[in-house]
Amino acid sequence: MRELLITLPDDFHVHLRQGPALAAYSRRSAEHFGRVLVMPNVVPPLSSARAMDDYRRSAEAHLAASGSGTRMLPTFKLVPGMGAEAVRACALAGAVAGKYYPAGSTTNAADGVPDPDSVQGELAAMEAAGVVLSVHAEDPGAPVLEREEAFLPVLDRIVNSYPGLKVVMEHLSTAAAVDAVRSWPARVGATITAHHLAFTLDDILGERLQPGFFCKPVLKAERDRTALVEAAISGSPKFFFGSDSAPHPPEAKRSGAAGCYSSPVAMPLLAGLFDQAGALGALEAFCAVNGARFYGLAANSGKLRLWEEAWTVPAELDGVEPLAAGRVLAWRAGRVP
Ligand code: NCD
Ligand code: ZN
Repeated sequence: MRELLITLPDDFHVHLRQGPALAAYSRRSAEHFGRVLVMPNVVPPLSSARAMDDYRRSAEAHLAASGSGTRMLPTFKLVPGMGAEAVRACALAGAVAGKYYPAGSTTNAADGVPDPDSVQGELAAMEAAGVVLSVHAEDPGAPVLEREEAFLPVLDRIVNSYPGLKVVMEHLSTAAAVDAVRSWPARVGATITAHHLAFTLDDILGERLQPGFFCKPVLKAERDRTALVEAAISGSPKFFFGSDSAPHPPEAKRSGAAGCYSSPVAMPLLAGLFDQAGALGALEAFCAVNGARFYGLAANSGKLRLWEEAWTVPAELDGVEPLAAGRVLAWRAGRVP
């Protein structure tokens, strides 16, 4: 049996949700990740230092109860009219990133940003405070498979207008986005999810409709997946792991919610993918080194063990259908105590 010991990974994009589910999702993330950058698209949105801090306290209490030592990296949500002062207050309260959702682009984004000009003061304040701009890079007005590519000129404008701003293009889904991220300066990085690396549109639509693979941005074609894998195994410090784990209860999934509950299976999936690509040696940089460096953090001190052992992803975890439910994965993962 082959096995691998790597520095404990970080998840630089996760939805831990709110209410009773927060406890289970926090505990689940703590099983494989030393730090979690938690997205602010809860209701009401985390758009003030007070809201961010209240949410942080509840998530941190659940992480602490897991006994794992996993830490939360808080974020706020950019909404037009928020104001530069609120951005500065969030930065002082420990925000590591502010999230830009184009209005109407995804779950709970109706109150997002219609145009970058509507948040000029806020972006300048983030630039001055050294807070990373995290971007859901899709133009909701474009046809669904073209939304990411259609947003690249908008992102290009943001990157060029704020020369001191650090930017993360989240959950890359296309070869065009990989090329764009490579072409921007070093202060622009990107997260890639396990599902965009492992699956394509055919997993959603190819045989029977599989809503468990439905997320924003929608999974794309094989050539896009290949470009994402190349970026992830390249060792380039611009590319790092963010699960975009986005659980929805079965009734929400039935009514069409976008999002995959990926955090329980992400590390096993990644190990299988990197192994297939002959690049297991590059896994640690992708999920435990590059992101921490981008965010100016030291690497975690803990370790994650990955070992080759076939297992079937259960139909349900924490009341939710996990990503790849029913599929057989070749690797398992567990924290070294
Ligand atoms: C996320 C969610 O449900 O919060 N959904 C998704 O499909 N990824 C939001 C997001 O990151 O787009
Ligand atoms: Zn997300």
